[in-house]
Amino acid sequence: MPKLEWSSKSDNLKSGGSLITESILFPGPDDKNPARVENRLILGDNLRVMNALLGEYEGKLDLIYVDPPFFTNKGYPARVGRGEDSRKPEEWQLAEGYPDQWDDLDSYLDMLYPRLKLMHRLLSPTGSLYLHLDWHANSYARILLDEIFGYENFRNEIIWTYHGPSPIRTAFNRKHDTILFYTKTDDYVFNVDDIRIPYAPNTVATFKSSKKAGFGKVPDLERGKVPEDWWYFPVVARLHQERTGYPTQKPERLLERIILASTNPDGLVADFFCGAGTTGTVANRLNRRFILSDLQNRAIITSRSRLVLKNQELGENRAELEGPALPVYLQREEGRMEFPLKSPEEMGFPEISIEAGVIHLPPELVPNVDYWEVDPDWQGKVFRSRYQAVRPLRKGDLPSSMILPETGGKICLRIVLISGEQIQQVLN
Ligand SMILES: C[S@@+](CC[C@H](N)C(=O)[O-])C[C@H]1O[C@@H](n2cnc3c(N)ncnc32)[C@H](O)[C@@H]1O
Repeated sequence: MPKLEWSSKSDNLKSGGSLITESILFPGPDDKNPARVENRLILGDNLRVMNALLGEYEGKLDLIYVDPPFFTNKGYPARVGRGEDSRKPEEWQLAEGYPDQWDDLDSYLDMLYPRLKLMHRLLSPTGSLYLHLDWHANSYARILLDEIFGYENFRNEIIWTYHGPSPIRTAFNRKHDTILFYTKTDDYVFNVDDIRIPYAPNTVATFKSSKKAGFGKVPDLERGKVPEDWWYFPVVARLHQERTGYPTQKPERLLERIILASTNPDGLVADFFCGAGTTGTVANRLNRRFILSDLQNRAIITSRSRLVLKNQELGENRAELEGPALPVYLQREEGRMEFPLKSPEEMGFPEISIEAGVIHLPPELVPNVDYWEVDPDWQGKVFRSRYQAVRPLRKGDLPSSMILPETGGKICLRIVLISGEQIQQVLN
């Protein structure tokens, strides 16, 4: 087979990397003693993160979806505050998102190649990889995937098309991304009946009027058809209910189709370039377990508050239909610091108080808060988040007080500000 070569290509897979658990998020009331530790949100460079996961997860992941930087050589700022409404610029500010800047194509491929190899090792024998890119680098990635996964394990080049404004006047508007779908072997999960879509109305009308329309083949009009390898879903800019303000966020419907097709309920889904946490949010909703990681603190805090918010929305239905939500372990690559935890005083805010079992945030603090959470039995090390209050994405206010049941333990409060900084205070 022909192979892609570049001057700095190396087969040397760096090893090393370990993870530290900072906090555990318990999104439901019944998860006090989790038997399973899957569901992780990890801050760190995914090369080290994947290396750290190998010991426990080599050959175990059912699906990996990744949407890495595309080699666009641009920076992508995030919108913070009520960033979902472009018509109200007074309600959001720009903050650091993530860079997609490279010295040259070699340095981009140096990033991609070892990571794709690690993903291949982490996948289970029946597992699938979906690599989301666009015209900037997808042709190179395809050759790398043929090398790592085998040409015979290529399944689809999925074209995701969308609309949107474009400044291009010298070529056709570039309005599609490419998702390369490979499996580890030829024995893989593909739940064809879970992703069927209705036939187009004119196809239904044609077959209803004449049985001979398909040259002898009559489709099962009730059952629907297997989608083509080109998909239309609106971009997140048009989906105000989903928009978190994190740049280049992907639509939930896109992830839904991928997860339904390539995993069974309770399967393990990973996204090592998770951004705003779309993959984890959808996996959670579909009752799959997930591992997410990202290099940017902003991505981790966005994913985290989104997961809490979505879990709150799923609410009691979830407990009834699918069992309680599993806890999420918030981890970081050893050696990488999250923003330091500061006291309210250090951030220029008054101390937070608790009166008769009710915690009140000072009114001057509230407009600055993205979400806050409480560990009612603080042991001094790993923060166990039992209660959470999140600013809703679109309408409504952040809850500024919280009633706590009596536990007798020390109460610890963590507050993530819209700026990304974090406050911690022990209340008693
Ligand atoms: C295109 S965005 C992902 C968007 C995501 N699919 C969503 O729906 O929100 C790419 C992400 O990869 C992250 N990233 C880039 N290099 C990384 C690395 N070496 N390790 C972990 N994450 C990385 C960036 O911080 C960015 O959040």
